[in-house]
Amino acid sequence: MSTLLWAVFPYVALTLFFVVPFIRMIYRPFGLTTRASGMFNRGVLGFASLLLHWGIILLFIGHLSGFFGGLVGSQVAVGAFFWIGLVGGAMAIVGSFVALVRRLTVPEVRALSQLDDYVVHLFIIAIIALGLYQSVIDRIWGAAFPGAAWFASLWRFRPEPELMAGAGLFTQIHVLLGFLFAAYFPFTKLIHVWTYPINIAVRPYQSMRTAANKFRRKWEFALRTDKSFLTYFAASMVLILVAAAFLIRPPTLGGLDLTTPAVEVAAADTVADRGVQNGYPLYVSQCARCHGVSGDGNGLGKDSPTFGTLPRDLTAGLYRFVSTQSGIASDADLRHVIVEGLPSSGMPGFAALTEEQVASLVTVLDRLWVERPEPGPAVAVTPQPPFTQELRGQGRQLYADNCASCHGARGAGDGDAAAFIEDFPGHPLPPANLAAGEVKAGTDPVQLYYRIAAGIPNGDAPLMPSFSYLTPEEIWALVAYLRAEILPRGTLNGALAATP
Ligand code: HEC
Ligand code: HEC
Repeated sequence: MSTLLWAVFPYVALTLFFVVPFIRMIYRPFGLTTRASGMFNRGVLGFASLLLHWGIILLFIGHLSGFFGGLVGSQVAVGAFFWIGLVGGAMAIVGSFVALVRRLTVPEVRALSQLDDYVVHLFIIAIIALGLYQSVIDRIWGAAFPGAAWFASLWRFRPEPELMAGAGLFTQIHVLLGFLFAAYFPFTKLIHVWTYPINIAVRPYQSMRTAANKFRRKWEFALRTDKSFLTYFAASMVLILVAAAFLIRPPTLGGLDLTTPAVEVAAADTVADRGVQNGYPLYVSQCARCHGVSGDGNGLGKDSPTFGTLPRDLTAGLYRFVSTQSGIASDADLRHVIVEGLPSSGMPGFAALTEEQVASLVTVLDRLWVERPEPGPAVAVTPQPPFTQELRGQGRQLYADNCASCHGARGAGDGDAAAFIEDFPGHPLPPANLAAGEVKAGTDPVQLYYRIAAGIPNGDAPLMPSFSYLTPEEIWALVAYLRAEILPRGTLNGALAATP
């Protein structure tokens, strides 16, 4: 599915986008135009058209800035994309909306309109609305990081669909709609854009009041026909994109050599063979929008209201979802978080990445983590006993004694101590509402075991204490109780042993 959406469909769309105009040019040369309606209700149109056209030009510039910024790992350029996009998007959406209203309300214009006029408006409005939604409401700025890396991979003719799989849902729909629109574009009146950039400067005067002007051109260039404008424009666009994809060097971080993954040589070979991104470039494309290009947690999207807490500062290494006795995250813990994500927190899972890619990201996290201590041995998990009624009853009592003070008697996260827990000074982080299924790192028995045995460390001020003084049997009793009576059925993953 991911291959179809992000590796096949884009090529179909791009092919249509670049090839159909030529076919139309050859067979219906005079069709490359809008159906002018400017003679009716001119005032409104002028305003709307100005907004729409300049808005779209700004959007184009913004996306270009996002593309190059995303490729070289520049937060400034990607940030500029969002400001330019915000202004351009607002202008274009208002312009398109006003033009649509005019089309619907001015009888002469309505009579001239065809279905594609409306479809085009709806496309423009939907695509821009999704873009604006991301920049104003989601505020996960930096979608350009995965977007640019993936788009460049298309022009390297080695598509890497996995780079888009972890992007936000709205980003994905926005981009897919954009490509659908590109595929549809050459069949609409919008095809006039293709003749615009050069044509406007060199085309013959259109109104010929006297015969004397008839053959004068603004500049006497050889490239004069619509066909040559189209060819030059299409060819230069393709060339620029291919050149950018091949020539722009992947981002690096200071003196740190993070481009080579510390995976087995054999594995590295296959990675290189497939042209798949790894190491720091992969980090920039997948993680920088939230965790920042330098890993300090200051990504463009860090203030998104969709996050339960801030994206972690990866240089400090204060990791929470661990399986070790020391409370220091092991490589396996980091790997687990990257692949599965932390549902309900804003940290997406990256299940589409290959083993090698995930391994290379773990290496990057290891190098970003200044002064990483030895994680030490993992919590020993004894074999899971059968989850009997009796064990559950024992768990109910242990829960009331150890957990209810924070998580509340029924697991709703409303215990007496709940109000005082913060993960950063001034940033409350209430205990998980377990009854609502708020579990970030997995509800399978082993992960729950780890959470209870290792606690949830957060540097010097753990969010949840480690209950390592409980016996393995007692911890399993708690797990059995949580799964049977607290966590909602629908959220249980992993093997569920003996539930009557
Ligand atoms: C859309 C934003 C976003 C993206 C993209 C993102 N993260 Fe996160 N990440 C977060 C947030 C938010 C948290 C904090 C979650 C919490 O503690 O509730 C987090 C937490 C983490 C943690 C801490 C886990 C722990 O045990 O404490 C690690 C490690 C991490 N992210 C690594 C990555 C890596 C590697 C990538 C790229 C492959 C990535 N993140 C991409 C938002 C993001
Ligand atoms: C001092 C308060 C406190 C106590 C006591 C406490 N917890 Fe928690 N617990 C928390 C906080 C805070 C979180 C949320 C951490 C986060 O979201 O990063 C949490 C999260 C959890 C989670 C969700 C982990 C995840 O993957 O998101 C589970 C499961 C859990 N606690 C179980 C327990 C059990 C079982 C006990 C008793 C043995 C217990 N807790 C005792 C504060 C507490």
